[in-house]
Amino acid sequence: MSLKKITLDHHEVVCQQGETVLDALLRENIDIPYSCKQGACQSCMLRCLQGTPPVAAQNGLKDVLRQQNHFLACLCYPQQEMVISLSPHADFFTEATVIDKQRLNAETLLLTLHTKEALDYFAGQFVNLKRADGLMRSYSIANNRVHANTLTFHIRRLGGGRFSEWAHQELKIGDTLAVSNPQGLCYYLPNNKEQNMLLVGTGSGLAPLAGIVSEALHHGHHGTIHLFHGSREMDGLYWVEEMQQLARQYPNFHYTPCVSRGDAAVGVALGRANEVAMSILPNLKGWRIYLCGHPDMVNQTKRQVYLQGANLQDIYADAFHVASATLD
Ligand SMILES: Cc1cc2nc3c(=O)[nH]c(=O)nc-3n(C[C@H](O)[C@H](O)[C@H](O)COP(=O)(O)OP(=O)(O)OC[C@H]3O[C@@H](n4cnc5c(N)ncnc54)[C@H](O)[C@@H]3O)c2cc1C
Ligand code: FES
Repeated sequence: MSLKKITLDHHEVVCQQGETVLDALLRENIDIPYSCKQGACQSCMLRCLQGTPPVAAQNGLKDVLRQQNHFLACLCYPQQEMVISLSPHADFFTEATVIDKQRLNAETLLLTLHTKEALDYFAGQFVNLKRADGLMRSYSIANNRVHANTLTFHIRRLGGGRFSEWAHQELKIGDTLAVSNPQGLCYYLPNNKEQNMLLVGTGSGLAPLAGIVSEALHHGHHGTIHLFHGSREMDGLYWVEEMQQLARQYPNFHYTPCVSRGDAAVGVALGRANEVAMSILPNLKGWRIYLCGHPDMVNQTKRQVYLQGANLQDIYADAFHVASATLD
């Protein structure tokens, strides 16, 4: 059996074969931040001071972080002994106060936070929200960059979900949370404003896409912008009026709400959002693509848009991984 010694400050941990650095540290009750355990939230980012992290453990990190030997503990099956430290990037948190809580639908909360320090983020990125006991989860920023200190989030309640149930039921206006550095590669940059854009999201995956649409329109993006938002049933949709209003205001913006089950109201397409999008837009050559929400939808649609002509470099995606259950 191949055992690898991992040193973090004064702790020495032996990583068993087939065990990640994160699992080895948690087994020894070493307190390090983590959330998704699937390489998506970047909250378990560490830095390798001696040794080299496996390439697979740097998946999704910015080039500068890779070069500085940062890696994700939950993806790291060490191939050699490593001396590691907590990453200063993972350590940054600013305090934020809840300034508003509203219902978007029965399952989705619109949460507004005011941060002590202004965050430098791109529309579409996500942050990790941490409560006082250290429980942390990733949520996408739903607004554009005009609001430097005000962040909005769409938090969907999962039955038995520790953070989302608590945010829905117990978190109050005036309470504080810690907010991490913005992260993620699914964001809008105001370049190539003539490029057509397709955005597909399911459930609370509308959050980053709404931020991106708002940012793009704010910057005068003049390529065609198509947003498809999907839910299983009608009551899972939200912001329909607001998006329709935006589509009336900006002729280059098109919005299609979709439901995959039951009866679809007038103006709502019947079918999965990604399938409806693919049938309406069969040729995606030259398009910029944004995908957010259920991991299966995101992965399936990545393949579909590529097969329908989109360039891999033009596909921006964040899958909303949760511990074990599904988001729709
Ligand atoms: C990049 C990214 C962006 C995201 N953005 C958003 C967003 O904008 N909006 C949003 O709503 N979500 C988003 N998510 C998902 C979010 O981070 C949380 O995962 C989600 O809110 C669930 O967290 P929770 O603590 O409520 O549930 P958890 O407590 O983590 O539980 C998740 C589910 O698993 C079940 N479960 C937990 N433990 C067990 C167990 N031992 N056995 C069986 N079942 C179990 C729970 O019942 C629950 O249904 C995002 C995720 C990522 C990675
Ligand atoms: S816990 Fe490692 S990336 Fe989320």
